[in-house]
Amino acid sequence: MKRVAVLISGRGSNLGALIAAARAADYPARIALVIANRPDAAGLALAEAAGITTRVIDHRPFRGDRAAHEAAIDAGLAEERIETVCLAGYMRLLTPLLVGRWAGRMLNIHPSLLPAFPGLDTHARALAAGAKLHGCTVHLVTETMDSGPILAQAAVPVLPDDDADRLAARVLAQEHVIYPLALALHATGRPARSPAPDARLLNPLPDASARP
Ligand code: GAR
Repeated sequence: MKRVAVLISGRGSNLGALIAAARAADYPARIALVIANRPDAAGLALAEAAGITTRVIDHRPFRGDRAAHEAAIDAGLAEERIETVCLAGYMRLLTPLLVGRWAGRMLNIHPSLLPAFPGLDTHARALAAGAKLHGCTVHLVTETMDSGPILAQAAVPVLPDDDADRLAARVLAQEHVIYPLALALHATGRPARSPAPDARLLNPLPDASARP
């Protein structure tokens, strides 16, 4: 049973999906710690309601000293004997310090089908590009932003009347499916490319008959 920390900056809906999945007796990871870099991160309340230890490690008092902020995070992770870190809407770029320390043990969820659309505003950019498929990716974190080895992806169709909010909502529902699945696969030590236990979950396109 891996001890997992989830790092958040805001809403925490992916955190909620991980907490819900980890309630299952046979889930191979336990959410042992939630760290937020913002005291007003709504996800903190979710963690507290679930009885999970929370810490706010606000980046602002560090006045731009990213290494010192990350050292504080790393110390918090060590104190709680954390083995795996999940970034879930953690909206700060990490330096090689934390990334190197957690290499192979830090996951991120990103709202696009990487390598398409790294960075911000992915839904608006997918619409502007005329993409017909969009989605989300869980990947290992490496020094280059949004580019580490891919653990899981889910695709959704872009519909003719989509705006960024509608598309984001459809993608988010799939984020909540693949993040718990990817964490479970990672925690059990299966190679990233191993067949999924349920391929439908990794490719949750609607039936062909349901497509426009
Ligand atoms: C999610 O859509 C996640 O993929 C995205 O932020 C949102 C957080 O929502 N992450 C990034 O854009 C990271 N580059 P949540 O707080 O409700 O999980």
